[in-house]
Amino acid sequence: MCGIVGYIGDGNARKIILDGLKRLEYRGYDSSGVAIVKNGRIVVEKTVGRIANLEEKIISLPFDGNVGIGHTRWATHGAPSDANAHPHMNGDGSIAVVHNGIIENYVELQEWLREKHGVVFKSETDSEVIAHLIGVFYKDKGSLLEAVYQAVSMMRGAYAVCAVAAAEPDKIVAVRKDTPLIAGIGEDCNFLASDIPALLKYVKKIYLIENNETVMVEKNRITIFDEGRKRVRRDVFNVTWNADAAEKDGYDHFMHKEIHEQPKGIFETLRRRLDENGLICLDGISLTKEDLFGINKIYLVACGTAYHAGLVGKYAIEKFAGIPVETDIASEFRYRDPFVDDRTLFICVSQSGETLDTMAALREAKRKGARILSVVNVVGSSIARESDDVFYTWAGPEIAVASTKAYTTQLVCMYLLALYMGYTKGVLPEGEYRRIIEELRETPEKLEKFLENEGSILKLAKKLYKKEQAFFIGRGPDCGVSYEGSLKLKEISYINSFAIAAGELKHGTIALIEEGSLVVALATQDRLFKKMLSNIQEVKARGAYVIGIAKESNHEIEQHADYVIYIPETADEVTPLLAVAPLQLLAYHIAKLRGCDIDKPKNLAKSVTVE
Ligand code: M6R
Repeated sequence: MCGIVGYIGDGNARKIILDGLKRLEYRGYDSSGVAIVKNGRIVVEKTVGRIANLEEKIISLPFDGNVGIGHTRWATHGAPSDANAHPHMNGDGSIAVVHNGIIENYVELQEWLREKHGVVFKSETDSEVIAHLIGVFYKDKGSLLEAVYQAVSMMRGAYAVCAVAAAEPDKIVAVRKDTPLIAGIGEDCNFLASDIPALLKYVKKIYLIENNETVMVEKNRITIFDEGRKRVRRDVFNVTWNADAAEKDGYDHFMHKEIHEQPKGIFETLRRRLDENGLICLDGISLTKEDLFGINKIYLVACGTAYHAGLVGKYAIEKFAGIPVETDIASEFRYRDPFVDDRTLFICVSQSGETLDTMAALREAKRKGARILSVVNVVGSSIARESDDVFYTWAGPEIAVASTKAYTTQLVCMYLLALYMGYTKGVLPEGEYRRIIEELRETPEKLEKFLENEGSILKLAKKLYKKEQAFFIGRGPDCGVSYEGSLKLKEISYINSFAIAAGELKHGTIALIEEGSLVVALATQDRLFKKMLSNIQEVKARGAYVIGIAKESNHEIEQHADYVIYIPETADEVTPLLAVAPLQLLAYHIAKLRGCDIDKPKNLAKSVTVE
């Protein structure tokens, strides 16, 4: 989704901003641009396509200065084009802005600006109105800060906006509502950005800007104001990631690197939640035994891959903790008036902690009295900050758009929460509790070994990469993993793929199976193994080519599937942690063979901060 970088200091703003924008490329974008303030003027260059195009465009131009703002745009209002790219300027070029989010009342604002101020718009975007509004009020107030306040008072929607004025080259003014914004604290320089990775090379100390706050960034000062325009004291947030964690480390793609980082992510997520006696400790999470007895329903709410982690989480929590769980898609939950009260535990799952629909669902649940626990990867993200408690996944920065290590660490959190709840409530016997913990502890090593045999999956990919359709089927927790495997394949290889509960096949979807159809059948559950064999036979009988995923001991599958990928032996409950790996690798190699842009699939963004 869109990215923002702002810089003010003694350095070359163009270079620093371009560098920051490149570090946000992974979020997905279709155009980019930079505005530099110098000698009482603002120079703007922007272009459709990759940042490399922008760099090429401005390299020979007199484009140096020490203050500027930059943007990567992911089109919402208006197609990707030079005109629609940010920054946008007001009519006389005295103001430039970049904007992430959506201005819901932009049509009204356009009319007002046209009628009252004769504004002529140059783009089809909602964002351009912001530049004109600030421009109108700047004429009146002569202060960028005041003009931003006035403009914001007329805007409805979600936004992180950074603005510069030609006549005030000593500051950048930014404002945030429901869209992330941070200010980076440098030495003799300061920064603004939508995301931490943009600034990692330059600063480790940042201020997290809260909703409805305005921030004025000068070379040696950052001043934050609340909604009532009072100055706010904010603690410095120390970033613990280093810039290397956001590098490819010899892999061709971040996705590939991140698949291989899963054993480490699982290990780290477990290590931080297991005490010296091997018991689960939820230090820093305020859920007491009494609270647990008071909970009569759990909602697991998320989007995309995080939602798929919730599908598996439902099985784990219902089984170990005996509490009814409903897993829901955030964009559905937020508009369907769900049954939530003060006995509901609302667990939202999000890698970025910034997904707008998930955030809105969280607020809806909170409004109805639920207790909010979030499972989040990005420390200090908006969802983390608005939750009562946060259970962090320790995946490290996930850069590829296709989520992999965030998913497996989210699963670990689901298991730990489920086990903790069950054991604390006394519904899960200690032996069972310890047995599953032991299985979890063994997972990183098993997964590491499995990933060493990637060659066989590459061979399989070579056989399959020209297919244009795929089906993923499974039962129980495998059903959730099927959804994730299918999403991985479709989002990076553009193969038309979909997942379905295996038992549902014969209620309609089997009509699509024909000679050569590719079916990936997950059969890792001992209890459901025979049922899966029947489903495999059903599709085989109609000519499908079946890849079976099973535990090493379940050889019987070889009699039915065309190709079998064995995962290491483990308890049924935790097989998703291992079973997803072959699906991720298969998707990766197929996409690579098809020549796809794996880390930045078309039309997708890493963090979806619009509806
Ligand atoms: O940051 P989040 O986990 O809230 O993101 C939710 C989805 O957009 C995300 O999981 C998406 O489905 C994956 N990147 C797909 O691989």
